[in-house]
Amino acid sequence: MKLAGIFASSCALLAAMAQGKPVQSEHGHSHGQTGPNGVKYVKGRQFDRIFQIVFENHDVWPVHADPWFGHFWKQDNHRLLGNYHAITHVSQPNYFNMIAGTDFGDNMYNAVNGNPNAMSNLTLLAGSDMPINFTSSALTVVDVLEEAGVTWRAYAEESRNSSQYQNPHHLYTLDPIHQGCDFDYMPGDPDFQWSEGNHTYTRRHFPFVSFPSITSRKERCANLFNADQFFEDYKKGELPQYIYYVPNLENDMHDSNTTYGSEYIRHTWKEIFDSKYFMENALNILTFDESANFTLTDMNNQIYTVAWGSGVETNSAWDHIDWAYYNHTSLISTVEDNWLGKIGQLGTNDTYANVISVKKPRTN
Ligand SMILES: *[C@@H]1O[C@H](CO)[C@@H](O)[C@H](O)[C@H]1NC(C)=O
Ligand SMILES: *[C@@H]1O[C@H](CO)[C@@H](O)[C@H](O)[C@H]1NC(C)=O
Ligand SMILES: *[C@@H]1O[C@H](CO)[C@@H](O)[C@H](O)[C@H]1NC(C)=O
Ligand SMILES: *[C@@H]1O[C@H](CO)[C@@H](O)[C@H](O)[C@H]1NC(C)=O
Ligand SMILES: *[C@@H]1O[C@H](CO)[C@@H](O)[C@H](O)[C@H]1NC(C)=O
Ligand SMILES: *[C@@H]1O[C@H](CO)[C@@H](O)[C@H](O)[C@H]1NC(C)=O
Ligand SMILES: *[C@@H]1O[C@H](CO)[C@@H](O)[C@H](O)[C@H]1NC(C)=O
Ligand SMILES: *[C@@H]1O[C@H](CO)[C@@H](O)[C@H](O)[C@H]1NC(C)=O
Repeated sequence: MKLAGIFASSCALLAAMAQGKPVQSEHGHSHGQTGPNGVKYVKGRQFDRIFQIVFENHDVWPVHADPWFGHFWKQDNHRLLGNYHAITHVSQPNYFNMIAGTDFGDNMYNAVNGNPNAMSNLTLLAGSDMPINFTSSALTVVDVLEEAGVTWRAYAEESRNSSQYQNPHHLYTLDPIHQGCDFDYMPGDPDFQWSEGNHTYTRRHFPFVSFPSITSRKERCANLFNADQFFEDYKKGELPQYIYYVPNLENDMHDSNTTYGSEYIRHTWKEIFDSKYFMENALNILTFDESANFTLTDMNNQIYTVAWGSGVETNSAWDHIDWAYYNHTSLISTVEDNWLGKIGQLGTNDTYANVISVKKPRTN
């Protein structure tokens, strides 16, 4: 109901913007685009590249109250997903849901109910670099992407390799940019964090390292990077087709606030977010892992999420908000629908999760 109120008050503005010049879209052009190592893009049904950046722990209203976030979705080819929900609490299982469509029962709600897989018992698994003992048969979106022949990379700010963690004095002379699965390995600490100055990496927000189906395979590990590599790939015009990006604990607002977060975006991302290359045939998603209170009272874990890209049609004011129900599993079903033309490949919640539509907002 509150969203409807905001929408009404923004209607005049939206109507004005709808008459503005739309971002030029060049459908069909992207078959010429290439990802890392010159690998050609596989054409998707709705888009050719999906980018996801994940922020932390804020209710939807305080985020809207920040001027940058409040305005972001009102631009041409930008759309607020006005009924997007996180799945659970604490953070980590939400990240598992983003790439696996399930948290395998590993969440705080189960902990409260005494489920043996629960979060509160994770430290019992110390001695392993897994926060949870997923079996090697646990699949992720990576399996879907590779089946479709689609390039992917995941980037984490402040991630370092194990020898770098153990030799902190070398931190400021890092070269080359770290790549691989070892960069959060710290025996005995499944909840590992690493701080460089005031900027903290945490493995909890980088779900790829918790799946043996990824970490046991060298060629998959080679797609996990320190975030600096993202900016290299961007400059070269060789971004992969699937991008997962996680900021550090300050930039993602876990340890800060919406003002700090929006300043980080303006400083680090604004030019990229608006660039023709980044917009072209892309579906870009900015979302949060969970709300601040993760309860029914804060609108059932509803979070601020925006989808944008040249293919996101915003011909009228109404196109700037999609009221369809989405949750983190939609990030997977959307990938499946786009490149395989079907959903449910993981056999988890991906079978049922709504596909995020680009052309027109969904109405159900
Ligand atoms: C934690 O594990 C112990 C034994 O391993 C079990 O008895 C207990 O119920 C578990 N607690 C939770 C909250 O899952
Ligand atoms: C983790 O999984 C491995 C292989 O599936 C198994 O050998 C091991 O006992 C498990 N460890 C725990 C703590 O459950
Ligand atoms: C880790 O980083 C250090 C310092 O940059 C480097 O010497 C080493 O080769 C790296 N190890 C791996 C496995 O990447
Ligand atoms: C971290 O932040 C505190 C206060 O916010 C500041 O005093 C300190 O100098 C910072 N440390 C580094 C290494 O940036
Ligand atoms: C927002 O977060 C930043 C970084 O942690 C901090 O310096 C600043 O004081 C915070 N502002 C408010 C209003 O809490
Ligand atoms: C969420 O929790 C914060 C403190 O943790 C509180 O200030 C705020 O009022 C809560 N919001 C809702 C909607 O419950
Ligand atoms: C759907 O997701 C929930 C939460 O992560 C999980 O408990 C459930 O097992 C999942 N269902 C399937 C079929 O994977
Ligand atoms: C997410 O949403 C879909 C419907 O779009 C639903 O089937 C699923 O159970 C929800 N939860 C999870 C964890 O995916």
